[in-house]
Amino acid sequence: MNPDSQKAFEAWMDDHLEPAASEFGRYWYPLTVPTFGRDEIAAAMDCLVNYRTSMGALTREFETQFARYIGCHDAVMVNSGSSADLLLAYNLVNPLNPRLEAGDEVLVPAVTWPTQIWSPLMAGLKVTLVDVDPETLNVDFDDMRRRLTPKTKCVFAVHLMGNPIDMKLMKQFCEEHGLLLIEDCCESLGSKYDGNHVGNFGLGGSFSFFFSHHMTTMEGGMVTCHNEDDADALRVLRAHGWSRGLQTPTTGSQSGSANPSVVDDRYRFVNWGFNLRPTELQAAFGLEQLKKLDGMNDRRRELAARFESYAESQSWFGSFETPVAGEASPFALPLLLKGDAVGSRTELLAHLEEAGVETRPVVTGNFARQPAASLLGPVDPTDYPGAEWVHEQGFYLGLSPMMDDLKIERLIRTLDEAYAAVVRPTQVRKVA
Ligand SMILES: Cc1ncc(COP(=O)(O)O)c(C=O)c1O
Repeated sequence: MNPDSQKAFEAWMDDHLEPAASEFGRYWYPLTVPTFGRDEIAAAMDCLVNYRTSMGALTREFETQFARYIGCHDAVMVNSGSSADLLLAYNLVNPLNPRLEAGDEVLVPAVTWPTQIWSPLMAGLKVTLVDVDPETLNVDFDDMRRRLTPKTKCVFAVHLMGNPIDMKLMKQFCEEHGLLLIEDCCESLGSKYDGNHVGNFGLGGSFSFFFSHHMTTMEGGMVTCHNEDDADALRVLRAHGWSRGLQTPTTGSQSGSANPSVVDDRYRFVNWGFNLRPTELQAAFGLEQLKKLDGMNDRRRELAARFESYAESQSWFGSFETPVAGEASPFALPLLLKGDAVGSRTELLAHLEEAGVETRPVVTGNFARQPAASLLGPVDPTDYPGAEWVHEQGFYLGLSPMMDDLKIERLIRTLDEAYAAVVRPTQVRKVA
């Protein structure tokens, strides 16, 4: 950055950083706190002042570093986690290499983010919701078996709230039934199973860099993949069906069949495609955030462990179980009411909100209960008892790595107070 813009930028930061942070002041325990600061803003400003805004070298560099971090062949950056889901799904029905046909069935958990469900549906596949296990928040393998039909061809798994699925069971299940596997890792950057990062177990994985997730690029996402053909195919789908930026634009698997000489290679379109490209500003953010990711995740784990030791001593709520070979990467604190607190969720959440603690349901809750679930055809919400339980008894709180230990202690006191105020009086009344 030139010295003048550097000076202007420093002045802007002095004026804006504190007020920006205090905008989150309605809650002393908010869902999320910005994890970016001067480094990310300076990197983005550098793109602006140098007129490097459209996807380019920084995006490629961020993709390379991200792939190295995850331990996969390559990674393709997009403008959101939802776009990453869309690319994963459309790559299954890619006209140049179709792995699935229209109407083939994909199993998707009933508690997730909706774009994981819409992506395969929009790609012409049939989505079958599968129940979840409230103990893990992840897919219930017995229910998955029950939902199989001869048309079932794929599992679109999600590692919810940073908790990895038991991937040994998942791989066995997919192999036994001849199913493809793709992973939604949008809530689980840094989670591992058997020492491997999630996003490495199937054909590819999606990641989100939305503001509140493990790291942020403002908006943004990434798709991981495991060979050059998929990397090229995803890049073509990401940007207009264009061959630009491919490893082998005119001879590779994505080169298309038309006579190469009749079109100008600069505008060579080889497939259908979207425009899901990120900007260089997002990639610049990502490169800075990636340097801090392990530190932020370790701090989240530390805070979560303190909270967990409190949770274990409580009879009125629990959190999730992680598989033996799994390593969670929490980005929030999910709670599931139990014992005498069952049925008091609405009142407890109102109490916590009033006390300055921001709360949310566990993403969609039972998706079969959402108005848009009718787009999937007839679905009966009561057919998903695990998701129902999460819907009715579950909620989550924030877990910011920027938080000091005192905040967790205050949160614990506030939860104790909420329980005493909401659940105990009810109980006394019931007994009387
Ligand atoms: C499981 C899951 N999948 C997909 C997404 C979509 O990511 P984005 O918000 O970046 O579009 C989210 C977002 O929260 C998510 O939680």
